[in-house]
Amino acid sequence: MKIIKARDYSDMSRKAANIISAQIIMKPNCVLGLATGSTPIGTYAQLVEWYQKGDLDFSEVTTVNLDEYKGLDRENEQSYYYFMNDKLFRRVNISLERTFLPDGMEPDSDKACRDYNRVIAEAGGVDLQLLGLGHNGHIGFNEPGMAFEAETHCVNLTESTMKANQRFFSSMEDVPRQAYTMGIKTIMQAKKILVVVSGADKAAIVKEAFFGPITPQVQASVLQLHNDVTVVADEAALSEIG
Ligand code: F6R
Repeated sequence: MKIIKARDYSDMSRKAANIISAQIIMKPNCVLGLATGSTPIGTYAQLVEWYQKGDLDFSEVTTVNLDEYKGLDRENEQSYYYFMNDKLFRRVNISLERTFLPDGMEPDSDKACRDYNRVIAEAGGVDLQLLGLGHNGHIGFNEPGMAFEAETHCVNLTESTMKANQRFFSSMEDVPRQAYTMGIKTIMQAKKILVVVSGADKAAIVKEAFFGPITPQVQASVLQLHNDVTVVADEAALSEIG
């Protein structure tokens, strides 16, 4: 595991965007695994800026996102599709037919997950998977205690994740209770993994996940077993590491 120290959030974003853009330059038809959440927003903004300058071409890129809320359609501003479209897809020359997320509107969970596993397999697997890190160590919506063997599956969100999401919804009742997420097995099959982490509030979980024991209680700890992981974290997020 390679840990790259960034000065602050914008430096983290630029460094992460550099790694993603190198991937696109090296393999223009690559498959990027993408994440939502607040951490990668600056990374996407940087990629958009380089695209606008003519330095990046997304025309052959395929994207597969980590997760989507069950029950939210693409027009819902809280859906992850909406987020991705808003932050990246509509701002670059990516072909929308090559942007994939689990189908939040598919009520049959088994079908939604099977279909998504097929999408990833047919794309040829993920070349570079971008991840954020949850305060409880979750990656995607893989919450503490889940089996590392899982492929795409439907999860009941924990109380703490629902509370963290509440700020985006008008009331707690509107917060989705379930989501479809790539599983740890799916994530671990990516050829390369890039984790972005920012802020002092993530310092404790960074230490636990990347320097503590490998345990399903801290899902991100499994990344220690992957042979090509780069963590780009700012000084605040690395402040508990000696
Ligand atoms: C997002 C995702 C989540 C987030 C994590 C960190 O698609 O699957 O695992 O990466 O919750 O979120 P932020 O970046 O908002 O701290």
